[in-house]
Amino acid sequence: MSATNSPGFSTLGDLEAAAAKVVPPDVWAYIQSGAVGEDALRANRDAFRRRTLRPRALVDVTVLDLTTNLLDDKVAAPFFICPMAHHGLVRPEGELATAQAAASANVLAVFATLSSRSLEEIAEASVHGARWFQLYLQARFIDSQRLVERAERAGYSALVLTVDVPVLGVRDRLSEMAFDIDPKGSVRNGPGVIAPPRAPTGSQGRYSLRSDAAATWNVLDDLQSITKLPVVVKGVLTGDDARRAVVHGARGVVVSNHGGRQLDAAEAALEALPEVVRAVGSDVEVYFDSGVRRASDVLIALAMGAHAVGIGRPVLWALAVGGEAGVTQLLSLLASELATEMALTGRRRISEIDRTLLGEKRW
Ligand SMILES: Cc1cc2nc3c(=O)[nH]c(=O)nc-3n(C[C@H](O)[C@H](O)[C@H](O)COP(=O)(O)O)c2cc1C
Repeated sequence: MSATNSPGFSTLGDLEAAAAKVVPPDVWAYIQSGAVGEDALRANRDAFRRRTLRPRALVDVTVLDLTTNLLDDKVAAPFFICPMAHHGLVRPEGELATAQAAASANVLAVFATLSSRSLEEIAEASVHGARWFQLYLQARFIDSQRLVERAERAGYSALVLTVDVPVLGVRDRLSEMAFDIDPKGSVRNGPGVIAPPRAPTGSQGRYSLRSDAAATWNVLDDLQSITKLPVVVKGVLTGDDARRAVVHGARGVVVSNHGGRQLDAAEAALEALPEVVRAVGSDVEVYFDSGVRRASDVLIALAMGAHAVGIGRPVLWALAVGGEAGVTQLLSLLASELATEMALTGRRRISEIDRTLLGEKRW
């Protein structure tokens, strides 16, 4: 699809503004918000702005190859769609549209425990697509097990365990609105499927969380005892945690601060990437998300050692603006922008994107 036929946007820059016009204000606040004062949200973008790329000239760039392997999936691009809850908030067909767009583009999509459509419906809508399933641990392990077994039966090829949400981060922007992010019946993986708790309960200095917050690294062993799917751990910001994930059998880790939505004083995810790559990059695939908005961001994260990067909010913007066609348009814009930037930097294939590409701003 050409940019001129786009459903409401023709550049990535236009997309956010177009989405802001069509999404109801409370849903917009839910999507856009970061934790507390939104320092982590801003830090994610600032970290990219501090980096520059050092082009290599006069390389034969007539053929550019963006394909790569993410675990056992061969895909058309080194970027993927992050797991995000409730796609139905911005478009009635919800994840079905996202799944179809991702499958047609041969881009990996990760679908959330808290999807607006069931994981089976999503799989049916994208039979040949590369799909991973994101797990929020349920209060009882048996309920997590049921979700995992369903995902395995439905043909998802990896399990992404999110570990940075024992409780939802405080969101100042949302507490100013009486917005129910989890309206009854909106989670189509079943009425019993639960979201992470919004806040600890208690008083007088003693607070508690639900039993899913009791999980330790052993939960990775428990998961591997019930599934053959490779397990990827999402939400790691230190080399220590990445090493623990690998010791407990993880096949990949996602360096992420949840798009700045959890711990507001967390480091920009990009700043944490080198430490994690040093710790486990030679053992497992290290993925990255949080703040990726342009193809140059993809190049920067890959040059810093990420195997692939996740795109979060822009996918919901595209879904809101144009449904399946919107997401298709976003993926195609990102891919062609990435091909352009690979040509401009003299890198013909993903394996040629390495540390030598990276500079830092000198001011
Ligand atoms: C509206 C919204 C819902 C999200 N829901 C989930 C979720 O259910 N599970 C999860 O692991 N991450 C969730 N995330 C975090 C994303 O997977 C990802 O880490 C983050 O959006 C990446 O940052 P970016 O939006 O700046 O690209 C959500 C993010 C947003 C914006």
